[in-house]
Amino acid sequence: MFVSINKAINKGKGKVAIRGWVYRERGSNQIKFLVLRDSTDIVQCVLKKSDFENKWKEIDSIQIETSMEITGTIKPDKRAPTGYEVSVSDFKIVGSSDTYPIAKDQSPEFLLDNRHLWIRSRKLTAAMKIRSAYVQARDEFFKKQGFYRFDAPILQPSQCEGGSTLFEVKYYKDKTYLSQSWQLYAEAAVFALEKIYNMGPTFRAEKSKTSRHLSEFWMAETEVAWWGLKEITEFAKKEIKYCVKKVAKECVEELKFLGRDPKKLLKIADKKWPTIKYREALKVLKEKAKLKIPFGKDLRTIEEDKLMEHFDTPIVVTHYPKKIMAFYKPSDPKHPDEALCFDMLAPEGYGEIIGGSQRSTNVKEMTEALKKEGEDIKNYEWYFDLRKYGSVPHSGYGVGVERVVAWIGELDNIKEAIPFPRTMLRWKP
Ligand code: 4AD
Ligand code: MG
Repeated sequence: MFVSINKAINKGKGKVAIRGWVYRERGSNQIKFLVLRDSTDIVQCVLKKSDFENKWKEIDSIQIETSMEITGTIKPDKRAPTGYEVSVSDFKIVGSSDTYPIAKDQSPEFLLDNRHLWIRSRKLTAAMKIRSAYVQARDEFFKKQGFYRFDAPILQPSQCEGGSTLFEVKYYKDKTYLSQSWQLYAEAAVFALEKIYNMGPTFRAEKSKTSRHLSEFWMAETEVAWWGLKEITEFAKKEIKYCVKKVAKECVEELKFLGRDPKKLLKIADKKWPTIKYREALKVLKEKAKLKIPFGKDLRTIEEDKLMEHFDTPIVVTHYPKKIMAFYKPSDPKHPDEALCFDMLAPEGYGEIIGGSQRSTNVKEMTEALKKEGEDIKNYEWYFDLRKYGSVPHSGYGVGVERVVAWIGELDNIKEAIPFPRTMLRWKP
């Protein structure tokens, strides 16, 4: 019976049967060292010519990424990469391998061209495990909180976050768009389910080539009936804290492999995460960073980074200027030039990880905003219907999954947080 390499190492002595892919190989005409990799770990395996006289030609030709089954005896060996070595008594080559194109020190572009192979690397494997742990932790969080999972269409007839980043799709004899957000449909569903969440593919034709933008990313969204801005922002903090803690505990080895200290994440998650208003953020920028931003300008990457130099946890920034916000974000009745909305910004240079708001119930104001953007109001009639039949205050937000994974794993580019990244310049393989 085969066991995982991790289980074999934990057993530490005696007979084991393992299977996986050759991660490294070296040897002489007397002895061959193979480091075998599976999804759990790597382990050194040693084959001696004296034990395999008539199979030596086959052994000698084993190349990196050959898939194999190996039976042997495991024992501790300080010289081996993970501290154990398997002395091989029998083996089977399952799939031979051509000379593997990926060697050390290849350019990022070459690795992106060969992404289908590069995802086997230990770096991307660690990042994918962290992503998996994060998504599972989030599902667990929402289940415990009594939320329903609700799915929205991906093909949508209108925009949610501005027409300029829509991807148009030919739809029989007509046209439609790829989803920019789950939100508008979630706003229909909260009048049935009240507390809902999901995670889905999201598309934006971003013209920016930054380390934070993808054209296809996954958004993890939430919408709740009866809640206002205050409740939703505190809940967003709770969600992210829960997930960060869970990943920090479950992915110790993977985080360390990526150079991230899991204890630091736990400390961050235990602190209080401040909420400040946009106007206060401008004050911090002016006083501490000598950056004068007039009220009414959105915070760009530079400003977010400068602001976050003064915080060591994520922060929530609320009340951005109404006039630069999406049509569905309502005015604060006390300060009509401010919107009842928020962003969560991550520390350590990772920028905006969440965008959210209370939702407007003012159809006139929304209609005007959409008209200004050149939208055909007919496409939003169904959405305005939601305000006609027993509307209640409701709020929600969207988490950028790759941005959170990049921050948790201290990755230097958002492209490392998704298996097959799509950007303005890259849509293959
Ligand atoms: O701030 P955004 O645009 O908010 C919305 O779409 C709302 N409709 C969500 C809601 O209230 N339900 O996007 C939410 C988050 C951002 O904070 C960011 O983390 C991520 O999605 N995001 C991107 N991530 C990667 N690449 C892009 N091009 C992204 N655009 C947004
Ligand atoms: Mg945003």
